[in-house]
Amino acid sequence: MSSEIESNSPYIGEKVKLRAVEMDDLDDIMQHWNTYEMRIGLGRYIPESRQQREEWIKKVTKEMKKGGAYNFAIIEKESDKFLGVAALKRVNNVSRTAFMSIAIYNPKDQGKGFGTDSGKCILKIGFDILNLHRIELHVYDFLESGRRIYKKLGFKETGVRRKASFVAGRYVDDLVMDILVDEYRKLNPI
Ligand SMILES: CC(C)(COP(=O)(O)OP(=O)(O)OC[C@H]1O[C@@H](n2cnc3c(N)ncnc32)[C@H](O)[C@@H]1OP(=O)(O)O)[C@@H](O)C(=O)NCCC(=O)NCCS
Repeated sequence: MSSEIESNSPYIGEKVKLRAVEMDDLDDIMQHWNTYEMRIGLGRYIPESRQQREEWIKKVTKEMKKGGAYNFAIIEKESDKFLGVAALKRVNNVSRTAFMSIAIYNPKDQGKGFGTDSGKCILKIGFDILNLHRIELHVYDFLESGRRIYKKLGFKETGVRRKASFVAGRYVDDLVMDILVDEYRKLNPI
């Protein structure tokens, strides 16, 4: 029974495990947080100081306690290396909805399946632990790897916020993608 529970843990994927973000992660965060090619997909890419990130860790720790948002550190299972952050944000406890985001900080760690695996864990947390009904995300139309992983996870492109974001000197479309719990259950029966 215990191994069945362990193999079902939403916090342990095939390649990554998720845990709370700690102040001790600050050094790892600062190594790649200000990398332009990583931050561009997140929408805000003005360099941030160590102190700003420290405040962010305090903020997400408080939010996690209150249940308004859940930010998890993504850790590589094999090496225990900090890879980035995956989150469920703007949790609405009436409509039972939230927004998902994933960021693998070091561009050298991207394209190795960590984003897909983190997404699987986050969906499991959202639907099996938090009892959400719908999870949404927004992704720039040019972010092929993001669109690819979200589709693989079962998200559907349900709308376009046309020319909604100004990124690297031009307006780009912001795609709305979402997944409902019933769709998730069909793909991931209990
Ligand atoms: C987007 C992101 C989360 C994806 O995570 P990742 O670990 O790099 O993704 P994975 O390795 O799990 O999968 C990438 C998939 O995209 C595919 N891909 C990569 N570049 C692609 C391209 N230009 N066109 C089409 N598919 C592409 C890969 O082949 C792979 O698909 P496959 O497994 O079917 O072969 C990651 O790149 C990231 O953190 N980027 C910076 C932050 C960010 O922009 N986050 C998203 C905000 S919405």
